[in-house]
Amino acid sequence: MKVSCSVVVFALVFHFFLVTGSRSPPPSDSVIIIGAGMSGIMAAKTLEEAGYKDYIILEADSRIGGRVHKGQVDGNTVEMGANWLFSGGPKSSPAHEIAKKIKLRTLYSDYGNLSSNIYKQGGGLYEKHVVESAFKVADARQEFGTNLSKILSSKKGGDDDISILGSQRLFKQVPKGPLDLAVDYFYNDFEEAEPTRISSLKNTFPRQLMEDFGEDSYFVADPRGFETVVHYIANQFLSHNNNKITDPRLQLKKTVRKINQSKNKVIITTEDGSVYHANYVIVTVSVGVLQSDLIGFVPRLPHLENELPGENMIFVTVTDEESRRIEQQSEKKTKAEIMQQPFGRIYFAGEHTNSTYLGYVDGAYFSGTFRSPSDSLYPLLGRAT
Ligand SMILES: Cc1cc2nc3c(=O)[nH]c(=O)nc-3n(C[C@H](O)[C@H](O)[C@H](O)COP(=O)(O)OP(=O)(O)OC[C@H]3O[C@@H](n4cnc5c(N)ncnc54)[C@H](O)[C@@H]3O)c2cc1C
Ligand SMILES: *[C@@H]1O[C@H](CO)[C@@H](O)[C@H](O)[C@H]1NC(C)=O
Ligand SMILES: *[C@@H]1O[C@H](CO)[C@@H](O)[C@H](O)[C@H]1NC(C)=O
Ligand SMILES: *[C@@H]1O[C@H](CO)[C@@H](O)[C@H](O)[C@H]1NC(C)=O
Ligand SMILES: *[C@@H]1O[C@H](CO)[C@@H](O)[C@H](O)[C@H]1NC(C)=O
Repeated sequence: MKVSCSVVVFALVFHFFLVTGSRSPPPSDSVIIIGAGMSGIMAAKTLEEAGYKDYIILEADSRIGGRVHKGQVDGNTVEMGANWLFSGGPKSSPAHEIAKKIKLRTLYSDYGNLSSNIYKQGGGLYEKHVVESAFKVADARQEFGTNLSKILSSKKGGDDDISILGSQRLFKQVPKGPLDLAVDYFYNDFEEAEPTRISSLKNTFPRQLMEDFGEDSYFVADPRGFETVVHYIANQFLSHNNNKITDPRLQLKKTVRKINQSKNKVIITTEDGSVYHANYVIVTVSVGVLQSDLIGFVPRLPHLENELPGENMIFVTVTDEESRRIEQQSEKKTKAEIMQQPFGRIYFAGEHTNSTYLGYVDGAYFSGTFRSPSDSLYPLLGRAT
C-alpha cells in the first residue's frame, strides 16, 4: 500500500500553502539524511511536510530505529535499546502518545513499593523502615542537587559546574554502604548510564524530561517492540508494503564513510563505494560515531575535535573574531550555538542535539523537527520559507 490518500492531500495542501504563503518557489534542494533512528526519520518527515521531495536517508544498518530496537531470545522479544515511556507530567511525550495510538502493550513500573523489595547481599530483605529512611536521605540529596544546579545555572553561577558526586559531597551525604549505594545507583547511575563522578550536575538536574512528561515510567512489553513507534512515523510518509518500507528514498546497509563539502554541494561516499551528491546533509549519528574516525569530514569539522576519546565531550576551538564574539556572550548561548550550528551545508540532529531532553527517544524526536528557532535544523527550513 502506498501512503494513504489523506496524507497525500495533506502534504499537497501544506506544500501549496507554503509556496503561496512565502511567495517563493518550492524547495528544490536535495538533502541527504544520515541515520534512520528516531531523529533521522523525524527529520525526513519534517522535510516531506515542508515540501521537500528530493531527499534520501542513508542507514548503515539493515533496519530503521537505531537505538530503538528489539532482539529475540527463545522466541521472545527483548528490547535491546530504549525500554521506557514516560507520562504524568504537564506535557505529553510524543513517543508515548504514538505508543498509545498503536496500542503498544506497556507495564507500569511501580517504584512505589521499592522499600519492600530491596535485598541484603547475604540474602533476605532489608526492613522496610530502614530502606525508607535511606530513600528520605536520597530525596533530600537530590533536592539539594537540584537547588544547587539552579543556582549554578543562574547568572550568579557563571560558568561553574560540578559533578553529581560533587554536590553530594557538598551536602555531606555521600552514599556509603550497600543499601545507600544501591539506592543511589537507582536514582542516578541507572538513569544517566554514567557514574555520579562523571555526570554533570547542571546538565542533569532538574531532569527536564521528567518535569515535563512525568515520572511515571511504562515498560514496553510488546512483541512488536518499541521500534513500532518509529515505524508508525515512517509509514506516514514513506511508501510501504506489509509493514516493510519500499520507498527508494530509504537506503539501508549504506554506511557513510566520507562527507566532502564544497562551496555548492556535498559529496557523500559509503563503504560500498556508492557516491551521492546533495545540496545539504543532515547528520544524525550518535556522539560516539562522531568521535570515532568512521566518517571522514572533508574539510575536517573545525568544531568537533576528537581530543578526548571515550569522554562525553565535544571539544570546541574558536580563534580570532569568533573567539571575541563567544567571549562576550553567555555560556548558555554558546552551548546552544554549538548544538545547532550548521557547518556550511552540514546540519546535525539526534538525541544529543536537544539538550532539553538529551538521552531520550523524545529528545531524538524533537531534534528532527524544525519547530522552534532553538531546534538544530531550524535554519535549514528557514531557508525554504
Ligand atoms: C540501552 C539503552 C536504553 C535506553 N533506554 C531508553 C528509555 O528507556 N527511554 C528513552 O526515552 N530513551 C532510552 N534510550 C535512549 C534512546 O534510545 C536514544 O536517545 C534515541 O533512540 C536516539 O535516537 P537518535 O536518532 O538520536 O540516534 P540513533 O537511534 O543512534 O540513530 C542513528 C542512526 O545512524 C546510523 N548510523 C550510524 N553511523 C552511520 C554511518 N556512518 N552511516 C549511516 N548510518 C549510520 C545508526 O545505525 C542509527 O540507526 C536508551 C538507549 C540505550 C542505548
Ligand atoms: C510490595 O512488595 C511486597 C514484597 O515483595 C509484596 O508483598 C506486596 O504485595 C507489594 N505491594 C504492592 C502494592 O505491590
Ligand atoms: C531547596 O530549595 C527549597 C526552596 O528554596 C528549600 O525549601 C529546600 O529546603 C531546599 N532543599 C535543600 C535540601 O536544600
Ligand atoms: C572533494 O570533492 C572535490 C570536488 O568537489 C574533489 O576535488 C576532492 O578531490 C574531494 N576530496 C576528497 C578527499 O574526496
Ligand atoms: C528540544 O525540543 C523542545 C521541543 O521542540 C524545544 O522546546 C527545546 O527548545 C529543544 N531544546 C533545545 C536545547 O534545542
